[in-house]
Amino acid sequence: MHDPAALRSLHQKRFQAEPELFFAPGRVNLIGEHTDYAEGFVMPAAIEFATLAGISPRSDGKVVLYSENFGTEHSFDAAALPAQATKHWTDYPLGVLAVLAGKGHRIPALSLSLWGDVPLGSGLSSSAAVEVATALAVTSLLGVEYARPVLARLCQRAENEFVGASSGIMDQFISANGAEDHALLLDCRDLSFKLAPIPHGVALVIANTMVKHSVAGGEYTTRRAEVEAACAVIARHRPEVRFLRDATVSDLAQWGAEMSPNALKRARHVITENLRTVAAADALMRHDMKELGRLMAEAHHSYSQDFEGSCVEADAMVALAQDLPGLIGARLTGGGFGGCTINLVEREHAAEFAEALGARYSSEIGIVPQVHICHASGGANRIS
Ligand code: GLA
Repeated sequence: MHDPAALRSLHQKRFQAEPELFFAPGRVNLIGEHTDYAEGFVMPAAIEFATLAGISPRSDGKVVLYSENFGTEHSFDAAALPAQATKHWTDYPLGVLAVLAGKGHRIPALSLSLWGDVPLGSGLSSSAAVEVATALAVTSLLGVEYARPVLARLCQRAENEFVGASSGIMDQFISANGAEDHALLLDCRDLSFKLAPIPHGVALVIANTMVKHSVAGGEYTTRRAEVEAACAVIARHRPEVRFLRDATVSDLAQWGAEMSPNALKRARHVITENLRTVAAADALMRHDMKELGRLMAEAHHSYSQDFEGSCVEADAMVALAQDLPGLIGARLTGGGFGGCTINLVEREHAAEFAEALGARYSSEIGIVPQVHICHASGGANRIS
């Protein structure tokens, strides 16, 4: 697990300076997949895996970035920071600096050390955690404070405009705004949100298929383009439909024939997923775990069959969980094509559930998965 005292001491040794420390969590999404960029609904929770950032000012005009995970340090001229990504870990902090510079902030000379334990490429938003931790650290050094939804938007822009991944707002938003023991129902249209308490007796069991996924990769972008193409067809008939958030299943019945078969299926996933997500938040608020589990199962089916965003391993991980004692609901979480499943499990069964699921997956797929028993954690913050 991440260790602020250890980051403080390595920053002190490396930079001979006392850092301010910040953390930003990764996330798991309970339901609402590929709906954020369609201005729909998502319901993620922040988790205890996080990125820590240590920051201190310098007097030599340099921006020096160090990652304990990668073990490398990179130095830039603060007055001439790179304007383009290089497909390197530094793209994430540099993207945040570029967006802040674009907002008129003069980036000061600084040392930034990063250290995280969010598994990379596992659909748990390691990149959003780096962006949000960096943004909090740098804005604090600048002496400015952005409201959390605005900070999340800045970090999303870093990812979209600098890193070059066409992701939505979900990951940065939950990292910046998560609340202990709560899931967050976010309306991605206006960024209004409601917190839904996760009952104490329910654990978030996150099972990593060990199949790497990447938002910057082609599949995410292709799916997003298909969703937008479906929306454009509906908009020809109903110009008030700007995003699939505004569309209904009856729009698909009327105009689906004008779409490519793939676009139609992707749109069906997004439109029904929005309905499921709002219903799931309702179920969670009512403590109706049975209904929440049913909606998660339906969501996985739609993600796998209509959106074709799953993979053999993730489908197996979901199927293998079904008859294990304590399961409330299971589905693939995050951008898709690998990564982790989220299993809501009665806490008293969580340990045996995690072990049994790991054993079943190993013997069926031939890969030893990592299975973590988590709880919903608070959002990004300064560490005092
Ligand atoms: C990734 C993106 C998010 C969202 C999910 C899919 O995590 O970063 O914006 O689109 O995929 O729900």
